[in-house]
Amino acid sequence: MKIGIIGTGHMGGMLARAFAETSSECVYVYNRTAEKAEAVAADFTNMAVCNTWRSLVSCVDAVILCTKAADGFHMMQQLGPALSRNQLLLTTISSIDLDQWQEFTPATPVKLIPSLTQTVHKGALLVSYPRTISPEDKLRLEQKLSAIGRPYVIDEAQVRVCSDLTSCGPAFLTSICQSWAQAAAQTGNIDRAEAESLLASMITGLAALLEAGMTFEQVIDQIRVPGGVTELGLEALGDGPLQLFTRLHAETARYANGHKRNSVPSPLASRQV
Ligand SMILES: NC(=O)c1ccc[n+]([C@@H]2O[C@H](COP(=O)([O-])OP(=O)(O)OC[C@H]3O[C@@H](n4cnc5c(N)ncnc54)[C@H](OP(=O)(O)O)[C@@H]3O)[C@@H](O)[C@H]2O)c1
Repeated sequence: MKIGIIGTGHMGGMLARAFAETSSECVYVYNRTAEKAEAVAADFTNMAVCNTWRSLVSCVDAVILCTKAADGFHMMQQLGPALSRNQLLLTTISSIDLDQWQEFTPATPVKLIPSLTQTVHKGALLVSYPRTISPEDKLRLEQKLSAIGRPYVIDEAQVRVCSDLTSCGPAFLTSICQSWAQAAAQTGNIDRAEAESLLASMITGLAALLEAGMTFEQVIDQIRVPGGVTELGLEALGDGPLQLFTRLHAETARYANGHKRNSVPSPLASRQV
């Protein structure tokens, strides 16, 4: 499956590199500011910078649109009709509505929510399909994506909460670690940088345990000794994390709903103009 990426910022650039690193097949890229696409392609012999989005579209089986939402909706109005029925149009813009985008294009739209973790070809890549997609297209796409992460199919209604876990997740967890390091430094017995370094080692070790098949529950069970210090620490945590993440999910859902209401132009309205 030949991939073309429009918008080589943080996500598009990362995906382009990950695809180029994991397959000899050419990855096609196009960015509004051409230098940015050229900088991404400079390290690869199997990456081609296209001068126009039209030339990219003519080379590929799947286009991945990786712009910010406002640029994406504008782009979609030109790009959508230029695609054909046998092409896929993936987008990393989580606030799009697949049914609505289908109105713009004969291609099959797919939502793709990547994570920074695909830089190292790990972590979940959320995929949300429209009802009309064929089993063959799903298989081909998931085979392609599995080289750079773990494709995980979700319903569109799950996109916000799952994106919080997988895509925003590394930022949320890192922020918690920063606060933890700050609290450790406040004991007066370690400085913050040293505490961050120890936490980073702990997290990479924990990730390896989980990768080896250990569950969250087993991790806790193996460390907690009745009446011991870990148990005391877990009691101190109490329902604090539950309250914290309940608030977090409520906030991101509120943002997503507001964002959808404010920034999605109606394709039907724009056609009437
Ligand atoms: N960052 C994340 O962790 C993350 C995770 C999941 C999903 N997302 C979503 O992915 C999308 C991209 O996020 P990002 O962080 O990668 O944004 P970004 O770094 O701002 O990248 C967007 C890129 O799109 C380019 N662009 C804008 N309009 C264009 C057009 N008409 N034609 C070609 N290229 C165009 C921009 O080019 P210029 O250089 O000219 O500005 C820029 O390089 C967003 O919708 C975001 O919500 C992001």
